[in-house]
Amino acid sequence: MTGMEPAESFRDPAMGVTRELMKALLPHLEQASAGAIAVDADGRISWINPSYARLIGEPPEQLVGRPVREVIPNTRMPETVRTGQPKLLDIMEFRDQQLVVTRLPVVDGGRVIGALAFVVYDDLQPLAPLMGKYRRLQEDLAAARRALARRSARYSLSDFVGASPAALEVKRRARLAAGRETPVLLLGETGTGKEILAQAIHSASARANRPFVGVNLAAIPENLLEAEFFGVAPGAYTGAGERAREGKFQLAHGGTLFLDEIGDMPLALQAKLLRVLEEQEVEPLGSNTVHSVDVRIIAATSRDMDAMLRDGTFRSDLYYRLNVLEIRVPPLRERLNDLGVLCETLLEDIALGGELHAELTAEGLAVLHQYHWPGNIRELRNALAQALTLNEGEQALSAPDMAAVLPVPTEGLGGPPSANPPAGPVRPLAETVAAAEQAAIEDALRAAGGNRSQAARMLGISRSVLYEKLARMS
Ligand SMILES: Nc1ncnc2c1ncn2[C@@H]1O[C@H](COP(=O)(O)OP(=O)(O)OP(=O)(O)O)[C@@H](O)[C@H]1O
Ligand SMILES: [Mg+2]
Repeated sequence: MTGMEPAESFRDPAMGVTRELMKALLPHLEQASAGAIAVDADGRISWINPSYARLIGEPPEQLVGRPVREVIPNTRMPETVRTGQPKLLDIMEFRDQQLVVTRLPVVDGGRVIGALAFVVYDDLQPLAPLMGKYRRLQEDLAAARRALARRSARYSLSDFVGASPAALEVKRRARLAAGRETPVLLLGETGTGKEILAQAIHSASARANRPFVGVNLAAIPENLLEAEFFGVAPGAYTGAGERAREGKFQLAHGGTLFLDEIGDMPLALQAKLLRVLEEQEVEPLGSNTVHSVDVRIIAATSRDMDAMLRDGTFRSDLYYRLNVLEIRVPPLRERLNDLGVLCETLLEDIALGGELHAELTAEGLAVLHQYHWPGNIRELRNALAQALTLNEGEQALSAPDMAAVLPVPTEGLGGPPSANPPAGPVRPLAETVAAAEQAAIEDALRAAGGNRSQAARMLGISRSVLYEKLARMS
């Protein structure tokens, strides 16, 4: 005797009872509903009650035998026949009404031979309060999603334009990084696309639907950094406010924290950051409780980290913790073969929505090959934008158009006449030096697209020194 037998013998009488129950129930269901309909295995109407026929607007005898889809275009009864799956509640559009319907398969001898459907409500009015609540919840959800999207990444890996071997290697490593949870360190000159890569790694990672939070260490005054990172407890200090302020670590919980310009992090904060990474806990300023945080770190810098490690301005223990997977982003001058695709993409982007005619001639492109691009792709973008504006978008950008917006003369190729200007009268050294300094500052500002922090970095001086010099120059 197998264990199946008692169950089998139990089922038959139960099936009998079920059949009797259904028989008794059907007329009630039919009457209580606003319509009832049956289809055969081919999805043709085999029976329809008068109330459903009235809803459709044709007498039952004209409906029987027709494919149900022809009469009720949005019906899913054929699916019920195909899958054998009942659907107890569904909303179906019929003309400009919404009907609440129930669909059941009709099974005989284990085979689906048709389907039965009831219109439970043809008037959603009684459900209005419920629907209203549902709509409000939907709106809340959409608002929350929008808020989250603002805190999420805009770029994906396809935004890192380039097909040169160097660019492909960067993308290969970025994909590798996306598949892991380890910290990533992006090293590269200003304007090479580190921010794009950081976002792209997040977008391609398992954390893509969680927050991406960026902090630019160079942009925040030193005395505010700690609060920015770890948050502030309510009433922590005078003026701290009554409410707790979350730090970037907490905001990024579950997602990715992008530490941009990590080389600009003051030593005191480096020690605190190291502790947070080791313990995976943060303690908001003025609080005595810790919060555990799960954050994936991507850091970036354009500084010479080797030099900073050597002169002790960056802690080596923190460096090794951040530099588990290193991605060196090459400067534009090392991947000049990408200039063509980059120009095409950037011009399209710059002219987007405008009336400008965004095209570059082969000669114009050749001029760009002559330049050394200290500000990399950001500088390229600025040069193209400037050339488009000057040219008023009339024709494709020519060699002189491009030469005119580059800060140094380019040889031949239709550029302005060449490098060595005629030697002028000999001037006092201080004047010559001052003029050279002014030229260097102007070049750097131009390369950085007017961004003074970046210009200062390119010149190897601090922001405050640059401000002083600018003040003296004007
Ligand atoms: N590979 C690329 N493809 C397309 N656009 C790029 C690429 N790299 C950079 N850009 C563009 O150049 C500009 C600078 O890029 P991004 O901000 O990512 O550089 P960065 O390396 O973070 O520079 P910084 O160190 O100055 O912050 C942006 O406008 C970006 O869209
Ligand atoms: Mg950046």
